[in-house]
Amino acid sequence: MEDERLLSVTQCPEDLEEASLRPRRFEEYIGQEKARNNLSVFIEAAKQRKEPLDHVLLYGPPGLGKTTLAGIIASEMGVNLRVTTGPAIEKAGDLAGLLTNLNEFDVLFIDEIHRLNRSVEEILYPAMEDFAFDIVIGKGPAARSLRMDLPKFTLVGATTRAGLLTAPLRDRFGVISRLEMYSISELTRIVKRSAGILKVEIEEDGAKEIAMRARGTPRIANRLLKRVRDFAQIRADGIVTGAVAKASLDLLEVDQLGLDNVDRNVLNTMIYKFSGGPVGLDTLAAATGEDATTIEDVYEPYLLQLGFISKTPRGRMVMPLAYQHLGIPFDPCKCPQQLSLFDAGGETT
Ligand SMILES: Nc1ncnc2c1ncn2[C@@H]1O[C@H](COP(=O)(O)OP(=O)(O)OP(=O)(O)O)[C@@H](O)[C@H]1O
Ligand SMILES: [Mg+2]
Repeated sequence: MEDERLLSVTQCPEDLEEASLRPRRFEEYIGQEKARNNLSVFIEAAKQRKEPLDHVLLYGPPGLGKTTLAGIIASEMGVNLRVTTGPAIEKAGDLAGLLTNLNEFDVLFIDEIHRLNRSVEEILYPAMEDFAFDIVIGKGPAARSLRMDLPKFTLVGATTRAGLLTAPLRDRFGVISRLEMYSISELTRIVKRSAGILKVEIEEDGAKEIAMRARGTPRIANRLLKRVRDFAQIRADGIVTGAVAKASLDLLEVDQLGLDNVDRNVLNTMIYKFSGGPVGLDTLAAATGEDATTIEDVYEPYLLQLGFISKTPRGRMVMPLAYQHLGIPFDPCKCPQQLSLFDAGGETT
């Protein structure tokens, strides 16, 4: 389901040409001021000291630019980038192979680092701390441990779920950066930049219209741009104006805030079947026919960001702003559970 969704934040086949749109240097990387400013200082300092950059952990929802940033770190450091993912490193030997093949100061990028095998993770500790690799030779009482030196390297880890990282692993990162959702004006700049690369003629209003519906996510902005480009080419004279963008996105059933059928289904289910909540994640998943993890990782972050839902100790609740957006009258008196929660100011986790 999630894979076919136009607004899916996760990568899908048509994003394969993502590489061409991917910024390669800091000056092309739009937004994320905090992460960008900090990292560029650390990189400059490391280069001056002729040391590798400290290990970096990047976390945040999908499609916000973690992989992109890892590439930029390597190119700004002037070193090679080796890319792998947590689940791909199955055995200690796989990790050994990767580490021993690095050059001095190289960047090893481990995507989905929260999915690393525990036994592999333990080998990573001395590698990160002392640039050393311990090999156990023999078995039983005769077993000896041999320490092997590794090239000094920088580990860049990326995860959408920082909470799933073990404390010892998290503590070994010198730099921890959280990526934030992008503002409309940042997304507008990203759309214009991508349009330039794709040779699509676009007007300011057109770029803004796409940005508004991109759920704070560059990957979605780029995907919507490609769809709108098709409409512009076939139905208009190829130029993405505000009106063309609006008409095509309406046809694609992406509303002004970037909500699609699935989001509306989740909200409507909560409102009509559970009087606005609170409703537990699993119940909501069963009632909507969506996967619980998908709801949590993909739909919820944006709905939370919009202030459309909130998480309470007793489950998710629909907030008045969502009623307004859906054109459903909000009557707190009809939802006693909500009323008591508002009175208690009870909003946690
Ligand atoms: N700051 C940015 N400026 C311009 N374009 C960006 C920026 N961040 C991301 N993009 C665009 O969004 C696309 C997706 O970004 P990227 O693959 O880095 O996301 P990610 O955080 O690694 O996602 P995932 O969690 O799914 O791996 C990139 O190909 C790039 O074109
Ligand atoms: Mg990525």
